[in-house]
Amino acid sequence: MSKVFSGIRPSGLLHLGNYLGAIKNWIALQAKHDCIFAIVDYHGITTPFEPDELRQNIREVALDYLAVGLDPKHATLIQQSHVPEHVELGWIFQSISPVSWFERVPTYKEKIAQHPEYVNLGLLAYPALMAADILIYKSTLVPVGEDQLPHIELTNDIAKRFNHMFGSPPPLPLPKGEGRVRVEFFPPVKALLTEGARIMSLKDPRKKMSKTGDEGIALSDTPDEVRRKIKTATTDSGREIKAGDDKPALTNLLTIYSEVSGTPIKKLETQYKGKGYAEFKADLAEAVVEFLEPIQKRRKELEKKRGYVEEILSSGAASARPLAQKTLLEVKKKMGLI
Ligand code: AMP
Ligand code: TRP
Repeated sequence: MSKVFSGIRPSGLLHLGNYLGAIKNWIALQAKHDCIFAIVDYHGITTPFEPDELRQNIREVALDYLAVGLDPKHATLIQQSHVPEHVELGWIFQSISPVSWFERVPTYKEKIAQHPEYVNLGLLAYPALMAADILIYKSTLVPVGEDQLPHIELTNDIAKRFNHMFGSPPPLPLPKGEGRVRVEFFPPVKALLTEGARIMSLKDPRKKMSKTGDEGIALSDTPDEVRRKIKTATTDSGREIKAGDDKPALTNLLTIYSEVSGTPIKKLETQYKGKGYAEFKADLAEAVVEFLEPIQKRRKELEKKRGYVEEILSSGAASARPLAQKTLLEVKKKMGLI
């Protein structure tokens, strides 16, 4: 049984990219492993936000988590700011890491280009808090999308640095002949990617699917919205319905089709040989609508249960906090803070 941690920023409704790129794995992991999944609200405030919208988005993401099948009986669901120990450990990590490690992170560069008016210190320190999210539970497995790999690498660099600076004391001498195993304080962390790995924007297949406008399909989009977005999705030149490096838009649409229907891409290519884009897109839209239907049905039921989301998040924090406090106490002792 591994310890698993992952999180999503509450920046809007979840979309198919989040689901196929990350959450699909969470659902598979929850029954077999020790999982904590978070709504990382402190990461959410590193880009521009409105308080009322943020409050609403935290709730939306929680509802989406539950609607797609995360089960509080199996996995612990938390709102990051309810476990403030993450931030304390994040500060410690910032204090032992060189600034240069953070300046070269690709998402930092992307974010400052996107919001030149809001280049805040939190944005730079973002990966230190993410490392704290993961390491405070000594998690070893992090199911995320491909874009998060540089953050996971940095998490391992920070863990190694901490271990090197303050890690376990030299092991006690053992009886002759027995090997010494040095147990590191923070374990190495591995990212777990899904097969679909990266879902691209419907408007520009060079960009990843995001929460904005018609670029992505939200898990709560109505059937008509789904049909319209797919109908107006960009395609490639030529007529063939085929995946390949020269067909980024169709590769993306075929990946989505295959993921939501469970039909391999090769089989879909054969099925649509000689057929037009219109027919392909109409069928794809129906496959997506069918896939989303049970999720949306469950979401509607959950929305009606007053106080349910709050209850799940508060019991999540109650089980996660003692674990976080334990690690933080050990860290503080090792560093001479206690
Ligand atoms: P975000 O919405 O950026 O907080 O991302 C939440 C999770 O979904 C992360 O693990 C991302 O890597 C993953 N993710 C976001 N967008 C995509 C996408 N278009 N394709 C695959 N995974 C994604
Ligand atoms: N950086 C992640 C994203 O943008 C969100 C995140 C914050 C996260 N802390 C994490 C993901 C810890 C995995 C583990 O999607």
